[in-house]
Amino acid sequence: MTPVELVNLAIEAREHAYCGYSGFAVGAALLTKSGKIYQGCNIENVSFTPTICAERTAFFKAVYDGEREFEAIAIVGGPADKPVSSPCAPCGVCRQVMREFCKDDFKIYLGKGDGTYVESSLIEMLPFSFSGSNLEG
Ligand code: THU
Repeated sequence: MTPVELVNLAIEAREHAYCGYSGFAVGAALLTKSGKIYQGCNIENVSFTPTICAERTAFFKAVYDGEREFEAIAIVGGPADKPVSSPCAPCGVCRQVMREFCKDDFKIYLGKGDGTYVESSLIEMLPFSFSGSNLEG
């Protein structure tokens, strides 16, 4: 699975977005260490707070299935009535969910809609984070 293939699966996932309130459609494709793919989209709610991001949809599907080790995620987002045209960074809540299950070198690919992507990692996106090791004191 190449990064571009993963980004293309995120673009496919974005078609499933339920985003009538913001009009901003997001798709994600999460690659497990075992080579499986979990796709997610954002799912909004009239009460706003229950809205879930595309990244967490993908993670929670995978975790429910018993997956605990992850290699990479591709994310794409933008106005729902247009093709993706710029990178969409994961929100802070999604970064914290990644922290729960992923190592520092977990790769994050932000698709730009033109066949290219910005590559980052969890340690770059969430430095000096709160994690399970903090509980040990
Ligand atoms: N959204 C995501 O799905 N992922 C992110 O990381 C950023 C924001 C969604 C939430 C909401 O449905 C819409 O984008 C606008 O904020």
